[in-house]
Amino acid sequence: TATHQPYRTGYHFQPAKHWINDPNGPMIYKGIYHFFYQYNPHGAVWGNIVWAHATSTDLVNWVHYEPAIKPSIESDIKGCWSGSTTILPGGKPAILYTGIDPKKRQVQNLAFPKDLSDPYLREWIKPPQNPVMTPIDNGINVSSFRDPTTAWMAPDGQWRVIIGSKIDRLGKAILYKSKDFFKWELVDHPLHSSKNTGMWECPDFFPVSVNKGVGLDTSVNGPNVKHVMKVSLDDKKDEYYTIGTYNLEKDIYVPDEGSIDDDSGLRYDYGKFYASKTFFDSSKNRRILWGWINESDSVTDDVKKGWSGVQAIPRNIWLDKAGKQLVQWPVTEIEKLRKTPVELQSTQLNGGSLLEVTGVTASQVDVEVSFNLPTLEKAENLNPSGVNPQILCSQKGASVKGSVGPFGLLALASKGLEEQTAIFFRVFKDKERFVVLMCSDQSRSSEGPEVDKTTYGAFLDVNLHQETLSLRSLIDHSIVESFGGKGKVCITSRAYPELAIFKKAHLYVFNNGTENISISKLSAWSMEKAKIVQ
Ligand code: FRU
Repeated sequence: TATHQPYRTGYHFQPAKHWINDPNGPMIYKGIYHFFYQYNPHGAVWGNIVWAHATSTDLVNWVHYEPAIKPSIESDIKGCWSGSTTILPGGKPAILYTGIDPKKRQVQNLAFPKDLSDPYLREWIKPPQNPVMTPIDNGINVSSFRDPTTAWMAPDGQWRVIIGSKIDRLGKAILYKSKDFFKWELVDHPLHSSKNTGMWECPDFFPVSVNKGVGLDTSVNGPNVKHVMKVSLDDKKDEYYTIGTYNLEKDIYVPDEGSIDDDSGLRYDYGKFYASKTFFDSSKNRRILWGWINESDSVTDDVKKGWSGVQAIPRNIWLDKAGKQLVQWPVTEIEKLRKTPVELQSTQLNGGSLLEVTGVTASQVDVEVSFNLPTLEKAENLNPSGVNPQILCSQKGASVKGSVGPFGLLALASKGLEEQTAIFFRVFKDKERFVVLMCSDQSRSSEGPEVDKTTYGAFLDVNLHQETLSLRSLIDHSIVESFGGKGKVCITSRAYPELAIFKKAHLYVFNNGTENISISKLSAWSMEKAKIVQ
C-alpha cells in the first residue's frame, strides 16, 4: 500500500486498510459499544464480505477484534451481508444478518454470542436452525431479500422484523413475525411499500418521541410516539425517510400526509451517506445513527491507496419540535478530541470578503459558526416549489455572486484557493418568507482528474426572523461533514485535494454576496486523532 496517505482520516472511523461498507448491528452491551461493518479482509474493492468487529467505551476510540461473522455454514458460505442486532429480554444480543447461499440466494441467519460474560463478545455462534428465513416457496425474488432490521416486539407479544425487497420497481419492506426469534413466519402484507423506488436496501424502522428529544427503545409505541422509516435506494445510492404512524391493528406503517414517500422526500444526509442504521443507546437514552461514507475517487485510486470507505461520525438523532423532520448532531463524545479553540466574536463579513481562520490544523478540524444577517430586504426572489435544491446549488456555486450569500466556509482550501470545498448558504425571498439554501460545492475540491465532484444541496427549514443561521463542519482530510441549522440539514462530501493537504490546508470564512453580514460567533478546534486499534 501507498505510504503517502493524505486522504486517511484522523477522527472518522476506518480500519487500517481494505474495503468497508455498511455499518452493521451497532449496539451497547454491558456498557461497551459494539460496531460491526461490512469488510473485505483481502482487498480495497467489494468482495469476500465478513462482519468486522470493533468496540469502544466512548464511540470515538475503538479496538478491533477478529471478524464476528464470516462465511462458515451453507446458508452464508458466499457472504455475510448486512443485518442488525436485537437485545432480547434478559439482555442477550441476537444478530440477524443476510447470508448468501451456494446458489447465491439471499437468506436470513441468526448468530448469538458464545459467552455472555465477555463484554467484548469476541465469539459468535450460529445456531443449527439457520437459515431462519428464505425466499424459496414464498414468491420472493432470491436476489432481492436482504438486510434485516432490529426486531421489535408488538403488543401481541410477537417479534416483528422487516427485510428489504422489491417486485419489479415496487420497493418494499417484507414483514415477518416470530414467537421465539427462531421460527419466523411471513406476514401476508409488507409493513410498507412504495411504487417506483426499486430495491430497498438496509431499511430502518424505529420510534421517535414527539416532544422530548430523547431516543426510544425500538419496541416502544403509544401516544406521543411517531415512527420513522428509512430506506436506502439501490438504484440511486441515496437514502430517504418518512415520518408516520405504526398502525398496530393492521400491522402497517403509514407515512404522515406531506411526508413524501419517494425520491423527492427527506434525507438524513444530502451528500455521500448510505446504508445507515440506528440503535438505541440505553445508557444515555438516545438513538444513534451510523452511516457509510463511500469514496469519490476511482477504483484504481482505491487499490493504489489500499483502502476504501469510512464511517460518518455517529449522530444523535431525534424528531424536530415541529414534527416534520429529524434533527441530527454528532455525538457529544467527539468533542473530547477538540484542542484549544480559536474564536471570533461579532466580526463583520462584508460583501465580497474572505477571512482566514488561522491557528488551527485546517486538515483536521471541527468548526462551528453562526451568522447575523442584518439586511434581508435585498434577498433574491425564488419560489422554491418544484425547484431541485441540488441542481440550484450546482448552478449557483460558491463563485456565483448573489445578494444575501453565498456565505459560509471554504474547507480544505489551498493558499491560492485553487482548491476549496465550499459549504455555504444563500438566502432567497418568497413573498413574505425567506428560503435558505444550503450547499456543499466540490467543483473545485481537487486539481486531480478522476474524482466525483458533484455539488450537493438542500433547503434548510429555519425561521430567520427567530433563529441565527449556523453551520458546523467536521473536516477530516478527505471528509467534510456539515450540519446546517443545528442539524436540520446534513451534507457529507469527499474531497481529494492535491495541494491542500496536511499543513498546506487552510480554512476560510467567505461572503460572496453583495450584502454585508457578520459572524456572530465562530469557534474552530483542531482535532486530536482518534485511537483505532486494529
Ligand atoms: C448496501 C448493501 C446491502 C448488502 C451489503 C452487501 O450497501 O448492498 O444491501 O447487504 O451492502 O455488502
